[in-house]
Amino acid sequence: MAQPLESRPQARPQGSAKPKAYWVEPLITMLILGVWVLYSLWEVFFHNNGTYQNYISPYFSPGVGKWFGWHLLDALYVAWVPFLFRFSCYYYRKEYYRGFFWDPPGCAQGDKPRPRYSGETKWPLAINNLHRYFWYLAVIVLIFLWKDAVQAFFFKNGFGVGVGSLILLVNAVFLTFYTFSCHAFRHMVGGKKDCYSCDGKPTASYKLWHKVSQWNVFHGTWAWASLASVWAADLYIRLLLMGVIHDVRLF
Ligand code: FES
Repeated sequence: MAQPLESRPQARPQGSAKPKAYWVEPLITMLILGVWVLYSLWEVFFHNNGTYQNYISPYFSPGVGKWFGWHLLDALYVAWVPFLFRFSCYYYRKEYYRGFFWDPPGCAQGDKPRPRYSGETKWPLAINNLHRYFWYLAVIVLIFLWKDAVQAFFFKNGFGVGVGSLILLVNAVFLTFYTFSCHAFRHMVGGKKDCYSCDGKPTASYKLWHKVSQWNVFHGTWAWASLASVWAADLYIRLLLMGVIHDVRLF
């Protein structure tokens, strides 16, 4: 959402104490997100298979390419959905605006004078305004990831639990909390209402909004946890496919 110039943070008043190490968080963000983007590009553009036995990498699910017989860059047909969902996420926007654009790098840090700043009113950042639509698509992908998580417990010889089964299950759980703690979803369930209790009792939408608000407090935590779990799930399956490791069956 575009932020008017006049409401953007002003330079720190002269003489006020300089906040300590405000650059640490954006620097860490820049490193983690930078490496993740490079890893994702490597995975999407240099591999065409993300399935190992009953495990399917979240980068390759659902297998849209296989459905239609498109055999090139299978991950590309679906990976753009979670990527745009995260790219347009309100939490990640804060993080990468600080980390990559240094704009501003932290709270109470002065902003660079930028007379032609257009924020999210122009391409490419204007795409962030489509976040709620990416949310709908992300929910569809999430349904498939739950299917994959269940499938990960059913091996050729029947039900079992492998390390990969647990990683895919944890990934689906983290992604569920990330998706349903979304600011846009919170607005969908609770927005556009002037009064929740005008009829004397809390409505169902109020209760749902209240629950989502509780999850929303930790949205940043779910954002990082789910990023780590997606990464871990894909890396585990990639290493299995490369023969670097072997799946450990717990029973
Ligand atoms: S605000 Fe982060 S996923 Fe919607």
